[in-house]
Amino acid sequence: MQIFIGGAWPYANGSLHIGHIASLLTGDILARYFRLRGATVCYVSGSDCHGTPISVRAKREGVTPQTVVERYHREFKECFDQLGFSYDVYDRTDSETHKQFVQSFFHQLYASGYIYSQEVEQAYCEACQQFLPDRFVIGTCPSCGQDARGDQCDNCGSLLDPAQLHDRKCGLCGTSPVFRPTKHLFLALSRLAEELEQYVEAAQGWRINAENLSKRYLNEGLQDRAITRDLDWGIDVPLDGYEGKKIYVWVEAVLGYLSASKEWADKSGEAWEALWGGKSRHYYVHGKDNIPFHSIILPALLQIAGLHLPDRLISSEYVTLEGRKISTSRNWAVWVPDLLSRYQPDSVRYFFSINGPEKRDADFSWREFINSHNGEMLGAFGNFVNRTLVFVQKSFQSQVPQGALSPQIEETTEALYGKVAVLIEAGQFKEGLEAIFVYIRDANKYFDEQQPWVTVRQDPAQCRNTLYTCVQIIANLSNLLEPYLPFSSEKIRKMLNLNHPGWEPIELKPGHSLGQTEILFERIDKAVIEQEAARLAEQ
Ligand code: MF3
Ligand code: ZN
Repeated sequence: MQIFIGGAWPYANGSLHIGHIASLLTGDILARYFRLRGATVCYVSGSDCHGTPISVRAKREGVTPQTVVERYHREFKECFDQLGFSYDVYDRTDSETHKQFVQSFFHQLYASGYIYSQEVEQAYCEACQQFLPDRFVIGTCPSCGQDARGDQCDNCGSLLDPAQLHDRKCGLCGTSPVFRPTKHLFLALSRLAEELEQYVEAAQGWRINAENLSKRYLNEGLQDRAITRDLDWGIDVPLDGYEGKKIYVWVEAVLGYLSASKEWADKSGEAWEALWGGKSRHYYVHGKDNIPFHSIILPALLQIAGLHLPDRLISSEYVTLEGRKISTSRNWAVWVPDLLSRYQPDSVRYFFSINGPEKRDADFSWREFINSHNGEMLGAFGNFVNRTLVFVQKSFQSQVPQGALSPQIEETTEALYGKVAVLIEAGQFKEGLEAIFVYIRDANKYFDEQQPWVTVRQDPAQCRNTLYTCVQIIANLSNLLEPYLPFSSEKIRKMLNLNHPGWEPIELKPGHSLGQTEILFERIDKAVIEQEAARLAEQ
């Protein structure tokens, strides 16, 4: 089976923060899981290098957009690496391969007849002497009356055109813009409405937010959208008569899934056409503000090109920080490079898996984070692994004892693989990890009840059975946790002297020699909670 997983491409205009981890981590869980299942996985993403957010940052710093993009692309790569994100390709939208792909795709679109040219009145700021990108026109939303940008209202989610805003102002200088004629290319979404309705209607396994929002857009009626912009940063429109114009950043960014997977195909020798043909399954992982681009715009482009439409949209709700909305401009955020400089990636992955914004917003607080590390990672998981392996080391010379597996635990273990598989494939990552941690807590209970420290003298045969069983639990945990906590799984495999993870119950033979035992997690002092809170307030 071929599985495609597209992680959203973060804008290379500022460091990653916990919101990015919360919405993107599920892509890596899927990729690792499907690889364990033996599927052919193509998991791609990259840095979104074009778009207004990048020009804005460059202007503010007095450097070129290129400088900004280089800095953050490098940082993103490093953060994703440290977090264990196992992208098969992590590209950037300013790469030559991407640009060429997009321009040739654009020719194909143009030839399809779903694109037409039209002169439009566009917002122009006479004070700034430039056409204004949609999001640079600010005003009030015609649907809900709240402050909104010309591309979208963050309050009610409406997709907007600058001309629809009331009380329009230039987002750069505050002057009210005029409208001037200019020629643009439009994607005829209205002509695809019927197909897209059928597609969304038939959607299965989408997050409910993606399903609801997409249905709402379709009910409101699809309008044709301009796919070119008057900008100086982006990919050139490859047609005569559009000099100085760029391809709309969202249209070219979503094509990154195609261009990056082409790189994957070239590298791996897999067939790109098969991946984008009928039989594969495609997951897309992103935050909820990305929904319409993945549920309407991308499917429209794929439909025109005759390629495989998205099967599962894993769209996250938001993460709040200590109960408040994250704000990058006000520096109310926990930045990933900073977080990873002090904490283990698996503690971060655990927190955002068990606490992911799957159905509603989730909150990150330092108290919860540190408590979950100390309580679950160390208290439940680390402790079980440690007490078992130290026992085996001391009483059985680091060899799997000559014992038998508890039939009950054998059964639970087998069932757990099936259960977790179903949950992960359905995008219910939190429940999947919860099920594994119930198993871990039960394992600790089993250890306590069996009292091997007593039986080791009074009933050695039973002691061997207990430890034999506990070692098998750990071996299976190294498989089951591989999608969620890859670093700890790897460490366990080393301690158990095990080579590869897989997705079926394993049993280490009696006499199998274990490796060196090491501590998985250190306790974090409670005082750190206050220190982190103070740091956050000061930053
Ligand atoms: N750069 C966008 C954001 O950060 C996401 C783009 S996802 C893509 O919201 F697929 F379009 F690239
Ligand atoms: Zn609104």
